[in-house]
Amino acid sequence: MDSVLSQACILVVDDDRKNRVAMEELLQSSGHCVVLAESGEDALRCVLKQDFAVILMDARMPGVDGFTAARTIRERERSRSTPIIFLTGAYEDLSSMFRGYEAGAVDYMIKPIVPEVLQFKISVFVDLYNKNFELTREIAERRRVEEHLRTSEENLRALAAHLQSVREEEGVRIAREIHDELGQALTGLKMDLTWVAKKLPPDQKTLVAKTGSMFDLIDGTIQSVRKIATRLRPEVLDELGLAPAIEWQAREFQKRSGIRCRLSLPADALVLDRERSTAAFRIFQELLTNTARHANATRIDVAMRVDSGALVLEVEDNGKGIDGAATFSPKSLGLMGMRERVLPFGGAIEIAGMKDQGTKVRVSIPLGLK
Ligand SMILES: Nc1ncnc2c1ncn2[C@@H]1O[C@H](COP(=O)(O)OP(=O)(O)OP(=O)(O)O)[C@@H](O)[C@H]1O
Ligand SMILES: [Mg+2]
Repeated sequence: MDSVLSQACILVVDDDRKNRVAMEELLQSSGHCVVLAESGEDALRCVLKQDFAVILMDARMPGVDGFTAARTIRERERSRSTPIIFLTGAYEDLSSMFRGYEAGAVDYMIKPIVPEVLQFKISVFVDLYNKNFELTREIAERRRVEEHLRTSEENLRALAAHLQSVREEEGVRIAREIHDELGQALTGLKMDLTWVAKKLPPDQKTLVAKTGSMFDLIDGTIQSVRKIATRLRPEVLDELGLAPAIEWQAREFQKRSGIRCRLSLPADALVLDRERSTAAFRIFQELLTNTARHANATRIDVAMRVDSGALVLEVEDNGKGIDGAATFSPKSLGLMGMRERVLPFGGAIEIAGMKDQGTKVRVSIPLGLK
């Protein structure tokens, strides 16, 4: 439909020059664009070149007559619905009128034509053509906008996934540096202090007490460094895998929040790539944080298993139950982030809350194994 002209044109097909000129004057006087064809063959050529709002077709012409031309025009996909009005002499009988309709005519007018009637009919078809043109333009525009939206959504999604993994890698790098650089420096400091403490005469009580508090300070700092590094990227996730990391995190959470965690984890080690383990672990952390912050729960049940080629993690609390509106609210950035995390793997997250009965979240991540 891209070749539909913005200005509606009318094709006048008549072998009689006088008729063509008269029709052209009549239609042009009311502002229409007119194209003239002097035979059936000529009409077919015109229809190949452009679209028309309506075709006025003389029935009787030498060579390809009006009926044959109309039928051919109707057979072409592009001109299948172009309206054709047959114009013919009064001598024609009823059967030729039927032939006209069979060939795809929408109307049949007998000469001499009453100009006002013709003008009226033409204006109906021109209006229709213009509306159709407008509609086609709108549809094309909407398609373009939809396509644009779809690509920018895909781009945003890819960007979000990229940022997520960059952030995770950055966390790993900083955790390693903190652990290695600061950890080694603190260990060195502690060894030096041990050397100094040994050299101190026992009667230097203040100095001995001072080294004692310095040991405590160094030990406290070593603990803090370890905690910061672990928060950035838990070693247990990389060293022991997802299930031990989940267990460790649940234990830590229980200690800090006082909410009891019951675990049901697979006994065998899971065969899971780093990206999937990280996604599942980060989602688990976010779910625990949400429970502590919003649920007012006293217990959490965690179950993890492999089911039909997908890792399934279920976290259920006995709190107040998540509100249905919050589940899909664009303001729920935490939940949105979880959904985004599983999307690259074709995974899904289902969240269900029952008032005062708790919240159940089911995370599934296809393992992508063949
Ligand atoms: N376990 C839960 N029990 C009850 N309500 C919950 C629970 N988890 C989430 N919600 C509700 O869903 C909302 C959206 O959670 P989401 O994690 O997206 O955001 P948030 O925790 O409020 O903020 P953010 O995670 O961005 O720091 C929460 O504000 C809370 O009202
Ligand atoms: Mg949250």
